Amino acid sequence: MSNLYLVGFMGAGKSRIGSALAREIGYEFLDLDERLEEELRMSIREVFDRFGEAYFRVAERQVLQWSTGLDDTVVATGGGAFCSPANREVIHAAGGRSIFLDVPFEVLAQRVQIDQTERPKFVSLDEAENLYSERRPHYLQATWSVLLNGSESPNDVARRIVGVMAGAACAT
Ligand code: S3P
Repeated sequence: MSNLYLVGFMGAGKSRIGSALAREIGYEFLDLDERLEEELRMSIREVFDRFGEAYFRVAERQVLQWSTGLDDTVVATGGGAFCSPANREVIHAAGGRSIFLDVPFEVLAQRVQIDQTERPKFVSLDEAENLYSERRPHYLQATWSVLLNGSESPNDVARRIVGVMAGAACAT
């Protein structure tokens, strides 16, 4: 089966939910940012600091492209990956389906502020809010969106996603 890509803003829970979803449906789990850090042998923060965002985006595209060769894998993307139309094309042209974890900005901000040092794109609350508004229309291009309030456990969300996908399968 084709891969499932979890997309959404920083702090949406893509990695934790992705891992729960993979367990739930018997898929492998891949965290794109972790893979990228392994490949480049440095943290995302270091990549940004030493080489800049443009370099990071090229590397991100390459790992994303590579992921499409895997089977039966739930992939957690970084918060900016799905905002590039070319990246969306990479995912969907390979038969991948995408799921937007739609969490209110206030919840995201609270989560990310606690763990800000690891996130070069979270500069200040104001800038993060602007970035969120710019990116939301991109996230809404996902195959499915799951509206969350942020209090759900990763297992709850995983089960919700399974339900959404099953509903879509029945409707077609
Ligand atoms: C980014 C989000 C990060 C990581 C990088 C850039 C972004 O991933 O890919 O710092 O542009 O929003 P998370 O969404 O997992 O924090």
